[in-house]
Amino acid sequence: MQDNELLEKITQVLLQCKRSKDDNQLIDYQSTTELTEILDLNKQSTQDWEQLFIWIQKYIDYSPNTSHISFANRMWSGANAPSILGEVVAALTNTSACTFESAPVATLMETYMLEQMLNCVGFKQGEGQMTTGSSNANMIAMMVARNQALKDVKKQGLFNQIPLFAFISQDAHYSLDKAANILGIGVEHLIKVPTTKNGEMDISALDKSIHKIQKNGGMVFFVCATLGTTVRGAYDNIEKLIMLKNKHHFWLHGDGAWGGAAVMSPILKAKFLSGIEKLDSFTMDFHKMLGSSLMCNFLLLNHKNLLSYTCADGDNSYIFRDNKVDLGVTSLQCGRRVDSLKWFLDWKFYSKQGFSDKVENYYQLAKFAEGFINSSSELEMMAKRNSFNVCFRFKAQESNIFNKNLRNKLLKDEQSLLAFAYIREKFVFRLLISNININQVNIIALLNRLIKTGKALQNNV
Ligand SMILES: Cc1ncc(COP(=O)(O)O)c(C=O)c1O
Repeated sequence: MQDNELLEKITQVLLQCKRSKDDNQLIDYQSTTELTEILDLNKQSTQDWEQLFIWIQKYIDYSPNTSHISFANRMWSGANAPSILGEVVAALTNTSACTFESAPVATLMETYMLEQMLNCVGFKQGEGQMTTGSSNANMIAMMVARNQALKDVKKQGLFNQIPLFAFISQDAHYSLDKAANILGIGVEHLIKVPTTKNGEMDISALDKSIHKIQKNGGMVFFVCATLGTTVRGAYDNIEKLIMLKNKHHFWLHGDGAWGGAAVMSPILKAKFLSGIEKLDSFTMDFHKMLGSSLMCNFLLLNHKNLLSYTCADGDNSYIFRDNKVDLGVTSLQCGRRVDSLKWFLDWKFYSKQGFSDKVENYYQLAKFAEGFINSSSELEMMAKRNSFNVCFRFKAQESNIFNKNLRNKLLKDEQSLLAFAYIREKFVFRLLISNININQVNIIALLNRLIKTGKALQNNV
């Protein structure tokens, strides 16, 4: 196929994607076995464009419509239009954002955007980088902290060193466990601090635990404040953690993958993120609540030159030309996807004010959903709403099994794709509002549909 013909085909596919979104169907649900048969992945298709477009059509037909208002399954939903444009152009121009030479515009855009974020967060003398997501950013933050705590670790590894310990709340994200594993800290050296009733890290329990570790000869090098926990949306108290940091001198990182978006709104920043400018590092996903197309993440340090101290290594003379400008120098990757173009376009299109309006609206909608649930005789809240997360269930006997069946029925009936989680082993629906098109009417419709299906299930209809 000639280039122009291919581009025309791509345009048709884009229109087709748009049309299938407009059809307003959430999903054409197929079981794994059925879908495997439909896809016929073993089929030969060497030089066969027609077959490739058949697979593309199937991809579109059988993927959930994540822009649909009943797709309430994740921390994101659909994507902002400017970021989609940026993604398409990044794919068509296909380059790596590791050097200025190979990606001059992306390099300047990323540098510009990181400065904007340092400003939003209030890190006056900081630095940062885009990473592949908050899991990775959490690990890099832990790595920087490890290499600051033990100055020889880069040369000697962890052999014959004082044992290191890191602390997170028991509701923190599992990526921290992975980080402890990857970095040689050991998952048993990642201490999970109990939470209060609301799901925040219990600071006095943390203090006690730190004393115990120190008394036994361990070094406390890293504490992660979760700023919006994955299930309950709780924010660990930064100000109280800063007081402990001043006492014990650990690195204090803020995992704002989901709830960090509150930084865009002066009101919500003051409410949830007071003291954020005193953290040592902070990460946040623009691809979650703020709606940029996946993946779009940044990590910021409230320090200068630590990323290169920690991450730059080996003989890279074949690739880098200017260590001050080439972004790959401080990255753990060599090739780097261009994520800055879509980020920049979103930022310019919506501005900080637009993102602030967005998060404030989601916050109000979460409050509204909580009110609806509390006034319903069929539903019950399963945790006090802290911020953006609404955890609830349908009241029933054998509640866990019933609610799981209810969720599966809603999916198989192609009505809604709802997130679920467990709080103290109890099944909960986890409603996270992150769809720009959702409003109170849609929330009522979504919850009413759940109630109607739940009642039918109870009556075996
Ligand atoms: C609190 C928290 N941290 C980290 C992550 C991981 O983020 P990512 O998917 O960008 O790796 C998540 C994902 O849900 C999260 O909720």
